[in-house]
Amino acid sequence: MKNKETKIALFFGGKISRHLVLIKKAAKKLGVRLDLVSYNRVFFDTETLKVRLRKFQISTNNFQTNTKFQITNNKKNDGVDVNEYDVLFFRTTGKHWEEVDLINYQLKITNYELGKKPIIVDPIVLSGKPSMACKAYQMLTLKRSGIEVPKTVYGSLWFLYETMKQFSINNFQFPIIIKGSGGDRGTRVFKADNLEEMEKLVRELRKSETEEGKRYMLQEFIPNNGDYRVLVLGKKVLGVMKRSSQSLEEFKNNYSVGGKVELATLPQNILDLAVRAAEVCGLAVAGVDVMVKNNSKLRITNYELKNNLEKEKMSDDPKDYVVLEVNKGPQFKGFMQATGINVPEEIVKFLVSLKND
Ligand SMILES: Nc1ncnc2c1ncn2[C@@H]1O[C@H](COP(=O)(O)OP(=O)(O)O)[C@@H](O)[C@H]1O
Ligand SMILES: [Mg+2]
Repeated sequence: MKNKETKIALFFGGKISRHLVLIKKAAKKLGVRLDLVSYNRVFFDTETLKVRLRKFQISTNNFQTNTKFQITNNKKNDGVDVNEYDVLFFRTTGKHWEEVDLINYQLKITNYELGKKPIIVDPIVLSGKPSMACKAYQMLTLKRSGIEVPKTVYGSLWFLYETMKQFSINNFQFPIIIKGSGGDRGTRVFKADNLEEMEKLVRELRKSETEEGKRYMLQEFIPNNGDYRVLVLGKKVLGVMKRSSQSLEEFKNNYSVGGKVELATLPQNILDLAVRAAEVCGLAVAGVDVMVKNNSKLRITNYELKNNLEKEKMSDDPKDYVVLEVNKGPQFKGFMQATGINVPEEIVKFLVSLKND
């Protein structure tokens, strides 16, 4: 590995998380130059017409203490050229598509002028379309690509409600899932057991729809004893964990809402399916959520579950599985705990390998 020659920028929004610190430490250990770059550092001015990165973070303490805020040790407009990096990993994009697009705009210009071609992760970033990172678009894309997803209707909340009231399309049956097209860690996923519950839910969510522009989908509820998180890096599966809710009142299996995590395996066909799901969604570093759909084929005893013999009974037919979503910039705390895989190191190695390909 030509580690030392590869310069990586990892872009992130919000505060520096534990995950980011782990990736930074892993890079250091591997001798790779990796900079954590907050989107707050992106700037340009119309005189130089260059989108660059400020060299230093502005301390927010300055705002809090009301002292005159200063950019320390920094000349006016001094900045880092985004083209200094060989690999640009946009780990999060969510609220920052504007900055993502500006950086890409700069890269394209320099690319044209200098013939330099940095590597962009994930490929979806190149499309510049935030909607493509949302769950609704993923449902459409996945199903079109022949990958099964839960039966889904997208539309306004009242339309979804009417759909259930009249059973007009697709013959949905309760219980159903109402799911925000955006959102993660189980924050915008809801279940309703009957029409009254659904109406209550719709009324509660309406405000976020009209005032914040949130979008929702109606989904069939798939009975399950957990789901699988497949971590994909490029064309390879790094590992699989199973997540299962530990409480009867909780239908969500997310680690963030208390789901148990354990090492798991899936038939090769299904691992291939996960890799393809990530690919069609334009993601290279992805957490693919997979659920067994046809559970009747899967009568597992506790003994088999405990001894990880589950997979021997598992169907290897991709049609028996649904992809719930493909996560960009997946969390990996629970995954490391369950699998023992050093995810941050593997991510760094993967990013370096892209340069050397
Ligand atoms: N159609 C569904 N049927 C049954 N359970 C679901 C369905 N969709 C989501 N869930 C449950 O909710 C959890 C979160 O849903 P997911 O689509 O992965 O969104 P998030 O981004 O919040 O993780 C899943 O891990 C699963 O346990
Ligand atoms: Mg999920």
